[in-house]
Amino acid sequence: MNYEDLLKMVKNRRSFRRFKRDAIPAGSVEKIIEVARYSPSAGNSQPWEFIVVEDDKVKRSITKNIALKFGDAEKIDPDLYTGCAVQPHMYTAPVLIVVCGDPRLEQTYPKFLDRGILLHQSLAICIYSMELAAASLGLVTAWATIQGGPPEEEVKKLLDIPNVLTVDHIIPLGYPDEEGERKNERMRPVRERARQRRSFNELVHYSKYDRSRLRSDKEIADFIWSKSVTRITRS
Ligand SMILES: Cc1cc2nc3c(=O)[nH]c(=O)nc-3n(C[C@H](O)[C@H](O)[C@H](O)COP(=O)(O)O)c2cc1C
Repeated sequence: MNYEDLLKMVKNRRSFRRFKRDAIPAGSVEKIIEVARYSPSAGNSQPWEFIVVEDDKVKRSITKNIALKFGDAEKIDPDLYTGCAVQPHMYTAPVLIVVCGDPRLEQTYPKFLDRGILLHQSLAICIYSMELAAASLGLVTAWATIQGGPPEEEVKKLLDIPNVLTVDHIIPLGYPDEEGERKNERMRPVRERARQRRSFNELVHYSKYDRSRLRSDKEIADFIWSKSVTRITRS
């Protein structure tokens, strides 16, 4: 693959949160996990394992239980509209890939660094590899983040995941339901903002950091709440 093809694929990839129920071709999951398997990881620790969930009842149960836990969170943080994070339609995707991490592998990382960060960076790269592999097969996905809170505990129970492991993310996999997405007016700002990227010149410094371009707190706030970030308020 040349650079132009890679750039095209990277730019065309986008998260989808509505899925057609159509089955995906046999072997797609294995192809995607094969790409993930070759992802770089800190110390080549390869701290990942994958659970492939195809059973309708189990997919529904995972989605519902996560949504319930996020619902509880909204009661404590009433400004937060979790519609995007929760992915309430995840169960309609023909496959969910649950990505587990093994924190025991943190032992392989230098002690004076933040080992937890290294673990989760490694897992994140593996998931992005999966997103790219899915895109190359004409399939779509979006991260569903659940780690570190009650939703993670819920998924561990449902899938009998040993306590020593973490559940970092769930990756629904399927064909995009573009009409379903368009119909959801509430998600429009999320969709529009998610397409935005900061310009090249805004983020690259040559030789040393150009302090005249350090963004002010106001610019950061505008960026977060009006331009780019997909965490939207309820109002
Ligand atoms: C670490 C990480 C966590 C994410 N968690 C979620 C999530 O919980 N729910 C979700 O719908 N999207 C999630 N996303 C997807 C981002 O919202 C999305 O990648 C971003 O808005 C850019 O949009 P794009 O993927 O369409 O380019 C996550 C992405 C990353 C890298």
